[in-house]
Amino acid sequence: MQEDKGELVLRNLWYLALPSGALKKGKVVGRTIAKERIVFGRDAEGKPYALRDNCPHRGVPLSQGNLLDNGTIQCCYHGWEFDSGGVCRKIPALPPESKADVTKIRVPKYPVVEMNGTIWIYLPDKLSPNIEPKEPVPDLHLGAGETLRHVECIVMPTNIDHSVIGLIDPAHVTFVHQSWFWRTAKSLKLKTKNFEPIPRGWKMVRHAPSANSKGYHVLKGDVSTEIFFDIPGNRLEHISIGKSNKIISITTLTPIDDHRTELNHFFYSSLAITNWLWWPLKSLGRTFIGQDVGVFQKLAKGLENDPPLMLVGEPDAQARWYYELKKQWRAAQEQGTEFRNPLQAETLHWVT
Ligand code: FES
Ligand SMILES: [Fe+2]
Repeated sequence: MQEDKGELVLRNLWYLALPSGALKKGKVVGRTIAKERIVFGRDAEGKPYALRDNCPHRGVPLSQGNLLDNGTIQCCYHGWEFDSGGVCRKIPALPPESKADVTKIRVPKYPVVEMNGTIWIYLPDKLSPNIEPKEPVPDLHLGAGETLRHVECIVMPTNIDHSVIGLIDPAHVTFVHQSWFWRTAKSLKLKTKNFEPIPRGWKMVRHAPSANSKGYHVLKGDVSTEIFFDIPGNRLEHISIGKSNKIISITTLTPIDDHRTELNHFFYSSLAITNWLWWPLKSLGRTFIGQDVGVFQKLAKGLENDPPLMLVGEPDAQARWYYELKKQWRAAQEQGTEFRNPLQAETLHWVT
């Protein structure tokens, strides 16, 4: 396999941090993303923010502290307080006549954006005060009032590369996702799919869903689907139904460390019927993801041997594209040049 030799985690990109519902007002949440401990909170207006999860005093995780009503985090050790910009606002033990300017003390802050029920964090190549994101936030193909519902959050026991390749891999579907409600191994067909580059990835051009997937049959009317992938690890499926309805299904991958990746799955539908069917749909989605996790647990065992691996033919073409994009992305960051997508429109064939 043409393996990737560079830094595992791409920088200067947005990563899914949390579903909006996981960050309640008045609570702090600690997360490890790309081996960095990060604390999340909401300010007095409810806007999310993220700081490095260390108190500058003695390094205690701020995520062990309290979120006060004014949106500042109070450290659990000596009660220092930090606002949403990471600026120290109070050192309770200093005597009242102290001349110390506590606002000179700062916790590094990450850019954060909340949209459509999801919270994203920008991982810079270097933490510095006032980071300006160089990349636009991912396009979720949703309007302002359209909110994604969170289906599942699960830890894959593999690094970001293996997790991404699992996400974009067409050939496992026949063997991993065999279910009465989806498809059986007996219904193999030759598939032909057209691909085109998008700014940081590629898309499978709009097409009618595969005839051997029963899951789509419940959707009546004119159905077509378009599937997008972009780095660092987001897959988005846009299903349009009839003239004005759509379903958006998003899977995001966020690296935790060199051996674990968090997968989140989100779902939006403009069809009223999906609200009625939400619980069965959610459990269907979870079953699906559970099948992937099942095979990934086996994969993680196999990888303990550090075996040589292969990417073979058209079914593995997208995995090769992913590595090409990574390489180009890193080169552009290192040289300070604009990223150019190296991919071209292509047609791929496989049997599933
Ligand atoms: S370690 Fe945080 S206030 Fe002392
Ligand atoms: Fe899968």
